[in-house]
Amino acid sequence: MSGKDKLIIFDTTLRDGEQSPGASMTRDEKVRIAKALERMRVDVIEAGFPIASVGDFEAVQAVARAVRDSTVCGLARALDKDIDRAGEALKDANSARIHTFIATSPIHMKMKLRMEPDQVVEQAVRAVKRARQYTDNVEFSPEDAGRSDLDFLCRVIEAVIAAGARTVNIPDTVGYNLPHQFGDLIHKLIERVPNADQAVFSVHCHNDLGLAVANSLSAVLNGARQVECTINGLGERAGNAALEEIVMAVATRQDVFPCQTDLDTTQIMTCSRLVSGVTGFAVQPNKAVVGANAFAHESGIHQDGVLKSRETYEIMRAQDVGWSANRIVLGKHSGRNALKSRLKELGIEFQSEEALNDTFTRFKDLADKKHEIFDEDLQALVSEASQETANEQYRLVALKVCSETGETPNAAVTLLVNGEEQRANALGGGPVDAAFKALEAIVHSGSVLQLYSVNSITSGTDAQGEVTVRLAKDGTIVNGQGSDTDIVIASARAYINALNKLAQPATREHPQKGDV
Ligand code: KIV
Ligand code: ZN
Repeated sequence: MSGKDKLIIFDTTLRDGEQSPGASMTRDEKVRIAKALERMRVDVIEAGFPIASVGDFEAVQAVARAVRDSTVCGLARALDKDIDRAGEALKDANSARIHTFIATSPIHMKMKLRMEPDQVVEQAVRAVKRARQYTDNVEFSPEDAGRSDLDFLCRVIEAVIAAGARTVNIPDTVGYNLPHQFGDLIHKLIERVPNADQAVFSVHCHNDLGLAVANSLSAVLNGARQVECTINGLGERAGNAALEEIVMAVATRQDVFPCQTDLDTTQIMTCSRLVSGVTGFAVQPNKAVVGANAFAHESGIHQDGVLKSRETYEIMRAQDVGWSANRIVLGKHSGRNALKSRLKELGIEFQSEEALNDTFTRFKDLADKKHEIFDEDLQALVSEASQETANEQYRLVALKVCSETGETPNAAVTLLVNGEEQRANALGGGPVDAAFKALEAIVHSGSVLQLYSVNSITSGTDAQGEVTVRLAKDGTIVNGQGSDTDIVIASARAYINALNKLAQPATREHPQKGDV
């Protein structure tokens, strides 16, 4: 035993992360990410905002049913109807938390809520008491705390703790604070609120000035024992504090931090890739901890130093965050058991023999096209298999694309539409454009393409391309993914995946759509 405090890691990738424009996730995607977070031993997973839409309610419910080892949390405004909906969505959770919030800054109370401070205190207390009817594990956030009056904040916090809140989360909602100032705020709150010892103080920092991680860490040094964060720093506007940076800063600087997390940091890369694949938000190469260059040494002096002694230029070990040292894992001759056990090491297990067989067939197809199969290839393979839903409306049967100098590219596509084959041809500015136009000539989706991105999963010209296509229609935004060694086929698969998501009746609206 180290005798150090525990730092609770509260992941809000599925809630605040999803509020990044275009990062909406389906229920099944949320469950997949939640399972990966659970494997990483995240303490609390904020799964969504159940009142926001039927889709979000169902996603929180599905996560609550799927996750056993982490606490599952649902967000609710300080309103009876929100809290009841969150309570209902979390009914089947092994361990449930309701997170309720109301704004406390002068500008929010006056301009947004149009409420007097006394009314805000009253509503906060009422909300916490109502949430306690569903669970003992209630968190309260004074929204925009970073711009709230200190005395008023102390008053609200004392009242909600007395009403039964066991976690008090201090959000810097607009990312306005500076590290010394935010740390000082946490210190003063813990010192001044008379019943502060009855709650865990938490922080939730936004990254508008690029200070979310620094502010969170400053808060930890001043007594906060929960940090709210997201994988890859996803989140509203410029994002939230990045989980991987918080966790690795605390682990690496144990000489400074009086606390430790319980996370299995070797799962960080798996979670990072999964979130980036699902949302289509690529990770910048120089991103701390999870960027492709985070452990790459270019300068000769650095390379020489690292070869002589790793610690000369590296403060963390790449394998401690899940970058595998020996990256070639399987090949054409690997068998079903080798695949199964490698996937198990990556935290991927199959519910049925059928699912394993399907993945093995895909693996063999890929191994025919690609000599060496890496962990990243396997993750993309499983990811794609799980994207294909039983009730898919569209399925690619065949695609032929012609592209040559001096000619207009053209594509011929055969698509299974509700079990019936349909064909179309189209010309385009390039092969991908032609393929998408041919698909639209059949589907007539009426959607708008918001994003098209191709990312090479590994290195080499035989690498798989991982494509994300974001489509928007009537306020609904979906991301489709596809991967293949042929990027035109990967693109068509991604487009079809997005079309299938748009066609699903339970497709979720963006949680910020409407007045929530
Ligand atoms: O940024 C914020 O204030 C929030 C709250 C709901 C905690 O996301
Ligand atoms: Zn937030």
